[in-house]
Amino acid sequence: MKQVLLERYGQPEDGVRCAEVADVGAPGAGEVVFDVLAFPINPADISMCRGNYRLKPALPATPGAECVGRVTAVGAGVSHVEPGELVINLQRENWTQRRRVKSEDVIPVPPGLELRQAAMLRINPPTALLLLTDIVALKSGDWVIQNVANSAVGRLVIRLARARGVKTLNVVRRETLFGELKTLGADACVVDGADLGEAVKAHTRGAPIRLGLDAVSGQATARLSACVGERGVICNYGSMTGEDPVMSRNALISGGQTLVGFILGRALGTRSLDQIRTIYADLGEQVRKGILSAPVEKIYPIEEIKAAVAHAQRGERSGKILVAPNGPV
Ligand SMILES: NC(=O)c1ccc[n+]([C@@H]2O[C@H](COP(=O)([O-])OP(=O)(O)OC[C@H]3O[C@@H](n4cnc5c(N)ncnc54)[C@H](OP(=O)(O)O)[C@@H]3O)[C@@H](O)[C@H]2O)c1
Repeated sequence: MKQVLLERYGQPEDGVRCAEVADVGAPGAGEVVFDVLAFPINPADISMCRGNYRLKPALPATPGAECVGRVTAVGAGVSHVEPGELVINLQRENWTQRRRVKSEDVIPVPPGLELRQAAMLRINPPTALLLLTDIVALKSGDWVIQNVANSAVGRLVIRLARARGVKTLNVVRRETLFGELKTLGADACVVDGADLGEAVKAHTRGAPIRLGLDAVSGQATARLSACVGERGVICNYGSMTGEDPVMSRNALISGGQTLVGFILGRALGTRSLDQIRTIYADLGEQVRKGILSAPVEKIYPIEEIKAAVAHAQRGERSGKILVAPNGPV
């Protein structure tokens, strides 16, 4: 079977290759084997290939934080999934054609879910949801500001916030995205820049912003903080610049603002397996109904992993880059 191997840290497309490896074999007791049908290339996968991610496994390693698969066989004692069912995998190393994992690591996805969207269900939808529920107790009518608003997470935040009556101020790098984001439910859109604080006031008419969601880091964090009100919270959950977040002393000391971090694994780690399955069942249902989705720009075969990884690093994409390791999806 084919599998992506990361053989050296550095420029991602130089470090990965599609290799022929031994098959995973039949499932043992309590195990599940599934064919990987599709996986996205996420910013965290790119960071891992660069060697900048919090996880830096010994090489060669197989990247891939998420995927959707179809179960081909289950071992003795496995009852919550059956051959033929679609599943997402809570474990990593998914840039491959086939996986054999512990049964508790796979979560069935609702039948009828579009495969491309199912491939992106594991990480970004719960991230967007928990960013809105776990950081600040938001009420209907509250404002949230976020950068990377046109990213997959950003678009999901817009939809989920709108459903709660929470207003979103969406910071992007180009004005041409405004119409698309407003159609999704964005209340206001602004282009990032030195005068962000002033531009934002014109939209909120002075209403305080309680939460800032930052996945850019560096000075972009300080620019979001300049828009958030006294005692507001900035939540840093990513770094598209590769820099650490910057906040002014003034915002922290005089403004009483707080800078916190978010990572999905820790947020899910505070929940029981039943609660986690409920979150995915609910988000999966919203994806199935088309309420939540992430656009896709291109799908590559696994043999073209180098081109796929290079494409995923381009700015101004219209959507995610996916790989379909077992034929077109
Ligand atoms: N902490 C967690 O648990 C967690 C979970 C999921 C995702 N994340 C983070 O969430 C962020 C978005 O992920 P995603 O999968 O939704 O991304 P995505 O759909 O691949 O989109 C990437 C976004 O980053 C923007 N971008 C790229 N380089 C940038 C730069 N130098 N400065 C400002 N913006 C830049 C792009 O804007 P343009 O269109 O203008 O190029 C685009 O909006 C990433 O940082 C990711 O690591 C964190």
